[in-house]
Amino acid sequence: MTKLIYHRDWAKYYDEVNHRCFGAYYDELTRQTLQLISKLGAGLQIIDFGAGTGRIALPLAALGHRVTAVEPSEAMLAQLASKDISTAITQCHASMQSYDGVEGFDLALAVFTVLGYITKEEDLVASFCNVARVLKPSGRFLIDIPQEVLFSSHLVQRQGLERNITFVSKGANHYLYREKTRLELGAEVITYQEELPMRYWTPDEIKAALQKAGLVLEKDYSSKFAMAGASYWLCRKV
Ligand SMILES: C[S@@+](CC[C@H](N)C(=O)[O-])C[C@H]1O[C@@H](n2cnc3c(N)ncnc32)[C@H](O)[C@@H]1O
Repeated sequence: MTKLIYHRDWAKYYDEVNHRCFGAYYDELTRQTLQLISKLGAGLQIIDFGAGTGRIALPLAALGHRVTAVEPSEAMLAQLASKDISTAITQCHASMQSYDGVEGFDLALAVFTVLGYITKEEDLVASFCNVARVLKPSGRFLIDIPQEVLFSSHLVQRQGLERNITFVSKGANHYLYREKTRLELGAEVITYQEELPMRYWTPDEIKAALQKAGLVLEKDYSSKFAMAGASYWLCRKV
């Protein structure tokens, strides 16, 4: 796996940047995701891969699920830890491929563009194989698959945020993601830059990798997430 410390310089501002960038839709996306998960049962053992700062992991724990948050960025995990004051969540510094902790989960998650950070097919398959390994028989796996349109350059200027996102095509659905951001926080002005490789995975590529790992698409929930610019698939271990 390429050694990249995702969002190291702005993990502290990640929530604020996303709230200003996506507006009310950001909370709505969280609400819809939690609503979908609630249909799968109560008191579940859930593993959240690429948990970030805990957007989904924290409310799931508050709802009574037992949550393990797996995150390769120390900076992002530190933000999650700072919010998880009752330490309800088991935290793990690892990627989806490298997680080697306990098994027996009812549900695994990899949502909000996590798959786009994986750029090699062997890593995608290894990630899905690891998901299948840690799930109980018939355990579920909820993923989002960013559509190609999301890999488009754009500028967001809103509420003291100027976020300039550029995608440089490297061919064959590989991109270099560049972000230059200026954030006004009261009298303080924060600026940061980040560059990281990303990949657009076609639905067929994702299906093939799922199949290699012994996972299948159970239900396509994309129409319920029409604004997300991503397909939402509930998969199952076969
Ligand atoms: C856009 S954030 C989404 C965070 C969270 N899932 C959410 O819904 O808010 C993507 C996260 O995926 C993490 N990530 C990147 N590569 C990963 C991998 N191979 N396995 C697991 N997580 C990864 C990044 O560090 C980042 O925190």
